[in-house]
Amino acid sequence: MGRMEGKVVLVTGAARGQGRAHAQRLAAEGADIIAVDLAGPVETVTYPPASADDLAETVKAVEGLDRRILARQADVRDTDALAAAVRDGIGELGRLDGVVANAGILNAVKPSWELAEEEWQTMLDINLSGVWHTTKVAIPHLIEQGQGGSVVLISSTAGLRGIPNIAHYNAAKHGVLGRSARWPTSSPSTASGSTRSTRPTCARR
Ligand SMILES: NC(=O)c1ccc[n+]([C@@H]2O[C@H](COP(=O)([O-])OP(=O)(O)OC[C@H]3O[C@@H](n4cnc5c(N)ncnc54)[C@H](O)[C@@H]3O)[C@@H](O)[C@H]2O)c1
Repeated sequence: MGRMEGKVVLVTGAARGQGRAHAQRLAAEGADIIAVDLAGPVETVTYPPASADDLAETVKAVEGLDRRILARQADVRDTDALAAAVRDGIGELGRLDGVVANAGILNAVKPSWELAEEEWQTMLDINLSGVWHTTKVAIPHLIEQGQGGSVVLISSTAGLRGIPNIAHYNAAKHGVLGRSARWPTSSPSTASGSTRSTRPTCARR
C-alpha cells in the first residue's frame, strides 16, 4: 500500500516540470490529484509556456497509475478560479489532504534597477501572492475536514540567498519561506495527520 493511499492532493503548476513530477509521484504512492495550471502564456515570460496538451499529458500520466485526477486551467493570481477548482476537485474526489503550491515563473533576468514595473509585479503576483492564494483557498477545507493535512510551498535556493540578476525572483522566493515559517498551531502543518506547527524545510537545488 502506498504512503498516500486514500489521500487527495492539490498541485499547482501541474502541467509540466516539477509540478507534473509531484503529481505523478504522489499518484504512484496512491493519491488522487487536483491539478491546476494556467497552461498558457504569462505576460513578461519569454520562454515557451505550458499548454493544455501538457496538462492533458499529466492527466494521462496520473490515470496511467490508476489514480483519479481532476485538472483545471486556472491562474494562481485568480483566487475565485482557484477556489472553484478546489471545490470541484473535492466534489469529485471526495476530500482534500494536501497542497503543493508549485506554480511559478522566471522572467526578466537583468539587474534590479532595469526591471520594468510589470516584470517585478508579475513575478510577485505569481511566485508569492499565487502561493498565498493557493493556501488561502485550500487550508479552510483541511481545517473543516479536521484530519490534519500537509502544505508544501515550493521556494528555491533563491529563497535562501540572493542570486544575481533575479532580485524579484529572490524576493518572491524569500517571501515564500517567510510565509511558511510561522504556522499558527491551529493550522494544518507539513506533518501529515497532525495540526502542530513545523519549521519549513528546503531541498537545495
Ligand atoms: N527548475 C528549477 O531549476 C527550479 C529551481 C528552484 C525552484 N523552482 C521552482 O519550482 C517550481 C516549478 O518550476 P519548474 O522548473 O517545474 O517550471 P515550469 O515552467 O516547467 O513549470 C511551472 C508550471 O507553472 C505553471 N504556471 C506558471 N504561472 C502560473 C499561473 N499564474 N497560474 C497557474 N499556473 C502557472 C506553468 O504553466 C507551468 O506548467 C516553480 O515555483 C519554480 O520557481 C524551480
